[in-house]
Amino acid sequence: MGHLYQMNRKQKTLSIFICPKSEESSALLYIMKVSLPITEVIQRNFPVLNKEYESFALEKDSCRSCELYDHYKQVIQSEGCVVSPNFMFIGEAGGSDEAEQNRPFIGMAGQRIREEMKKFPLIFNKKTTLISNVVSCRPLNNKFPDKDVAKSCMAKWLDKEIKIVQPKIIIVLGNQPLLYVREEQGITSLRGTWKFLPKYKIWSFATYHPSYVIRQERAKNKEVVDLFIQDIETIVKTWESKISDRTSP
Ligand code: URA
Repeated sequence: MGHLYQMNRKQKTLSIFICPKSEESSALLYIMKVSLPITEVIQRNFPVLNKEYESFALEKDSCRSCELYDHYKQVIQSEGCVVSPNFMFIGEAGGSDEAEQNRPFIGMAGQRIREEMKKFPLIFNKKTTLISNVVSCRPLNNKFPDKDVAKSCMAKWLDKEIKIVQPKIIIVLGNQPLLYVREEQGITSLRGTWKFLPKYKIWSFATYHPSYVIRQERAKNKEVVDLFIQDIETIVKTWESKISDRTSP
């Protein structure tokens, strides 16, 4: 048996991992992945940063205010431009890949939406785009949390983030952000639509969640996949006409 020691200075704890000698290197990799210091996560996720957002990210990292944190003990940071980005994509919540790497939309769903974004590298990139979620911790078994938990998490972090960052356009991905950010229900009928959000004074656009798109792709439902691709193209073609109007439609 081998022993690996992990010191957490912030929490003043020492963890001892006991594992077969043959698995020491993968255990070490696991420890390194989950315990990248928050200051390095912030530098990596937000290449252009200001003091206000840095304080926000540090405060968010230390959030222990609800049961969501207890399940996987990892607050997941957003990623991208935090100084007036053109676009802020908002999903539901991170899963295991996101919690492990402390980056949003980095698993399968993330690869699917990033694949569409990469078709327009001058429009969607780290200098123009922020990626975030309604809920800031990975929910237990990836089941979106109850309304009161989701609402209080959003009020504490996403709402504050939107106010600090001041994105020009918000893009909601799927039913949960449609409900919590736009206060609307039914992504099937509302995808492809713009809506002005008086609460933030920002225009929003709705499209499918990439996990749903993946499921439809597997089921050979070309229509949904085409609509998703078309929605991203609509954003690219029309977003500039929306940002000149920050008061009301
Ligand atoms: N990863 C995220 O960060 N958010 C989602 O909604 C899905 C996957």
